Amino acid sequence: MPALIEIRNLQIRFGTTEAIRAVSFHIEEGEVLGLVGESGSGKSVTALGILGLLGSAAQVAGQILWRSEAGAAVDLLQMPPGAIRRLRGCRIAMIFQEPMTALNPVMSIGRQVAESASAHSASWTGREAKRKAIAALEAVSIPEAARRYGDYPHQFSGGQRQRILIAMALINRPRLLIADEPTTALDVTVQAQVLQLLRDLQQQHGLAMLFISHDLAVVGEVASRIAVMRMGRIVETGSVRDVLTRPQHEYTRSLLAAVPTLRTDRNQPLAMVGASTRS
Ligand SMILES: Nc1ncnc2c1ncn2[C@@H]1O[C@H](COP(=O)(O)OP(=O)(O)O)[C@@H](O)[C@H]1O
Ligand SMILES: [Mg+2]
Repeated sequence: MPALIEIRNLQIRFGTTEAIRAVSFHIEEGEVLGLVGESGSGKSVTALGILGLLGSAAQVAGQILWRSEAGAAVDLLQMPPGAIRRLRGCRIAMIFQEPMTALNPVMSIGRQVAESASAHSASWTGREAKRKAIAALEAVSIPEAARRYGDYPHQFSGGQRQRILIAMALINRPRLLIADEPTTALDVTVQAQVLQLLRDLQQQHGLAMLFISHDLAVVGEVASRIAVMRMGRIVETGSVRDVLTRPQHEYTRSLLAAVPTLRTDRNQPLAMVGASTRS
């Protein structure tokens, strides 16, 4: 059985800027791969490349092999735009760092969640869509979801907005979730809660996940395997335990030294434990 997704020799350039130089990795069904690296190393460009969201300025080469439901591998880079858009709506979902910019400020969150149910909504009645949206909000622990259905994004906290985006991402039951710095904009306590929610949902749904962060400790809490990225290359891949306890690459060692360790009390303010590494 091939991996759910396998990136082979991915190269992405913007004009003369080589953002991604020969990146290869794979993610198995139900597996969480952590992608870690300092700001500017190419993590987001990799994620956007997988989703076909880079725009025409980017020149992309290599292969992104996706295992279809039928079991055959298809190269996302060869897919027509319409097909990749459908895949993005249903089978591959994404959540970003900044929940406010991903939500429409003038549309109620209930409607936004209902409308994100692209795979099924055509056959849903208005009442059905509303019921499913409320259930999706309840599944990410939005308190009083039914009463707050008509509220707008600014009426929710940052952590709640990120939960709402997770609800939108998962409503179509994707097979792969790409989470790009999903907790970086949140304060430490809320970050821990959202990480716990992602872990719970990932296990409940057997979801495969590409979990991206500049923070090796955060990645270590969620992923089972880690790929370390530096200047557009993967410099090290291994199990969480190996990468955190026996890093092979000098760069991984410097990332480890720069961030709070797993033994750090994450309920303490990060200012105490190396806030300068957070972007
Ligand atoms: N649209 C773009 N045009 C030109 N260069 C870009 C564009 N997007 C990203 N880059 C460059 O690609 C590199 C990787 O960026 P990015 O993937 O956003 O890093 P990370 O997410 O790891 O912080 C950076 O040097 C960045 O400046
Ligand atoms: Mg980024």
